[in-house]
This record gives sequence, structure tokens and C-alpha cells, in this order.
Amino acid sequence: MSLNKAILWDDRYKLGIDAIDIQHKKLFALVSKLYALDDDNSTKEELKDILGEFSAYMRTHFKDEEEYMLSIGYLALKEHKQLHHDLINKLAEVIKSSHRLSILKIKMRVIAKRVLIDHIVREDIKIKLFEISKINKNLIFDAEEDDNDDEIDITEIMPDLYT
Ligand SMILES: [Fe+2]
Repeated sequence: MSLNKAILWDDRYKLGIDAIDIQHKKLFALVSKLYALDDDNSTKEELKDILGEFSAYMRTHFKDEEEYMLSIGYLALKEHKQLHHDLINKLAEVIKSSHRLSILKIKMRVIAKRVLIDHIVREDIKIKLFEISKINKNLIFDAEEDDNDDEIDITEIMPDLYT
């Protein structure tokens, strides 16, 4: 696979949390704009605009995702926030240090893979798994409560046996 080739969205990356999936999809679309640029004919401004847009949206997305994690009481929020922080720094470093489109495309491919694929597949999926385990726990808890409600009192059904 060429290093110059864009990284594309795949439904396999879906978490099943709509608000987050939509943003992940948009991040893929933004980064693919970079790969649509022509190495010889694109201007510095075009490049700056695309990287600026991607970087700004990535921050917005991380902020929204962190708010979501907080809203569901996600236990590893602090660690996940640190990963976001590291990715933001890494991206800033790449943008600052590379000025040639061909080099940037290669470096951004690495970043995009880290931000968009590895992070989603390894870390963001844990948010969904946490949510599922929480729902399951509630179901078990509810079921236990229901069991108590439905508990059959044998002394009522067959009082003769107990009198
Ligand atoms: Fe994340």
C-alpha cells in the first residue's frame, strides 16, 4: 500500500454510539482531503487550511467524547483524556515540523492511523464495552429485583400445608 494513499472509513470502525461514530467519520473525511491534494500544484494555504481544519475538529471531537465518557461515568476517563492530549501534541509537532506536502502526507498517514484507527479500535471501543457492561449489570440488578417481586409465597398457595 502506498504511503501516499488516504486512510478510508470502514463500517468496522463503528462503535454503535451515533454521536461519536458521526464525528469519527468526519475525521476520516477531513484527513482524506490532504491526500486529494496534488503534490506539485497545491499551495501552502490549501495545506494549512486542511491541517487546521483537521486539528480543530479533532480537538472538538475529543472534547465531545470526553463529555460523553463523563456522562456515562466511564472509569478510565483520566487515562483516555491523557491519550487524547498526547495525540493533540503529536499532531501539532508534525504540523510544525513539516512543510513539504509529500513529507506531510506520509507523516499524517501515521498520525491518521494512530488517531483514527488504532485509537478507535483499541481505546474508544472500551467506552462502548463499558456501556454494555453497565447495561448488563443494570439488567441483572433489575432481574434480581423482579425475582423478588415475583417470588411465590408457598404459604399463600397451599396454606393447608402450613397450618
Ligand atoms: Fe478517544
